[in-house]
Amino acid sequence: MKAIYVYHDQGAHLLDLPIPEIGKGEVLIKAHYSGVNYKDALAITGKGKILHSFPMTPGIDVSGEIVKTRPRKFKKGDEVLVTGCGMGERYNGGFAEYVKVSAENIVVIPGGLTKRKSMVLGTAGFTAAYAIHQMEKNGQQPEAGPVIVTGATGGVGSIAINMLANLGYEVIAITGKAEKKLWLKKIGAAEVIDRKKIKYGKRPLESAQWAGAIDTVGGETLAGLLRHIKPRGNIACIGLAGGYELNTTVMPFILRGINLLGINSVDCPMPLRQKLWQRLASDLKPTELETIYSGVLSLEEIPEFCEKMLAGKTSGRWLVKPG
Ligand SMILES: NC(=O)c1ccc[n+]([C@@H]2O[C@H](COP(=O)([O-])OP(=O)(O)OC[C@H]3O[C@@H](n4cnc5c(N)ncnc54)[C@H](OP(=O)(O)O)[C@@H]3O)[C@@H](O)[C@H]2O)c1
Repeated sequence: MKAIYVYHDQGAHLLDLPIPEIGKGEVLIKAHYSGVNYKDALAITGKGKILHSFPMTPGIDVSGEIVKTRPRKFKKGDEVLVTGCGMGERYNGGFAEYVKVSAENIVVIPGGLTKRKSMVLGTAGFTAAYAIHQMEKNGQQPEAGPVIVTGATGGVGSIAINMLANLGYEVIAITGKAEKKLWLKKIGAAEVIDRKKIKYGKRPLESAQWAGAIDTVGGETLAGLLRHIKPRGNIACIGLAGGYELNTTVMPFILRGINLLGINSVDCPMPLRQKLWQRLASDLKPTELETIYSGVLSLEEIPEFCEKMLAGKTSGRWLVKPG
């Protein structure tokens, strides 16, 4: 089978490798689709310590059909997906024609989604759904006011915008790509703010403008958002595209009761994972998924694409067709 292998200090290579043998409790998936997430770009380029050992096949998402299974709860031909769960980090991932995974990590693709659609969503869509779910649990409602989405043209950001807009939220998109304003409005943004022009202020608390935020950027952006969120609002902290440090004060928490919600899609427990995929196929299913879908890559094309992604030059969701 063809697979990308990343070697320590020698980068990513496309190789012909034997199809893996499965052990007890494992399943072999013929990969139909994967997708590129920011974490995959860090893994492929070596710019982030994502892979736990070498050589390793990256790719934190895969969908396809089961060709071999040891546990009987699945059968040959079942259409399934895996996102996160350590795939493409602790064990070989989705940038290959066949993927061996523990049966415990498998989600049967729910009715309403397909192998392709589930990977246009991928970890990005799953994480956006997770963030919204946690915000709702903390009382977020459209009536409370506008919700900010940062890294707006990215995978997580764009899917979050469309989902929030469909739920009735007024969505404010913050982006570095002024040329994508119309695209952002088409997927649901009510307003688009240029990230280079936004001023968050320096005081521990500034004017309370937004009822909540989904933040994929971190760093100064997250510190800035904390100063401006309305009392009892929620910020879902998802990413670090702008930096992993957070310099802030306790004031937003103790004087406005802001909730900073950490989102970790990798280790989401299976019952909640199943529930979120059901929501992705129903009430949270994006209506502009084909607008957000930006193209499909072969395995050969992934390394060059990943450099562009880390430079912030890509947008939307990119599929991978391994076969
Ligand atoms: N916690 C989790 O479980 C989880 C799951 C998925 C992703 N993530 C994280 O979420 C982030 C986004 O992931 P993704 O897959 O959506 O990536 P992506 O498609 O590359 O989107 C990232 C977006 O962030 C913005 N951006 C890039 N560089 C920036 C910078 N220096 N400063 C400010 N904004 C910048 C860009 O959007 P604009 O040009 O529109 O501003 C870019 O499109 C990553 O940090 C990723 O690791 C976390």
